[in-house]
Amino acid sequence: MILSKRLLAVLAAGLLFGAGGSLVFEADRAVAAIVNSPEDMPEGEGRDTVFYMCSACHSMAIVTQQGLSRKRWADVLDWMVEEQGMAELDDVTRNEILDYLAAHYDEE
Ligand code: HEC
Repeated sequence: MILSKRLLAVLAAGLLFGAGGSLVFEADRAVAAIVNSPEDMPEGEGRDTVFYMCSACHSMAIVTQQGLSRKRWADVLDWMVEEQGMAELDDVTRNEILDYLAAHYDEE
């Protein structure tokens, strides 16, 4: 795959500053899918909420690389709130996020 210098610079800036989105590498193919918008993630209820909530602080790749059970995702959310400064979630939003993550980023 030939990447232009400009594209490389954009990708590097995205990785370093989280501004250009995040990279998800598919192990079997040397394809970099950029998670720049909710549409880059699997369709489903809660997708927009997850994208905008979680990409406020860090690259979405940190999230989409993971495969966790609902319980472990719940622990991650608690950790985000208790240690990382994420705003506390109301029950409806929290469940929406957990449902989406557990459905699409579950353990193998
Ligand atoms: C207020 C900022 C903030 C928000 C909002 C936030 N995070 Fe984080 N998150 C962080 C910080 C800071 C780290 C890095 C913590 C570290 O590695 O010490 C992190 C790290 C992570 C990690 C990596 C854990 C690991 O194994 O290294 C995951 C997974 C994660 N966040 C998930 C989420 C999800 C899912 C959401 C949305 C529901 C979210 N975060 C929203 C601040 C935030």
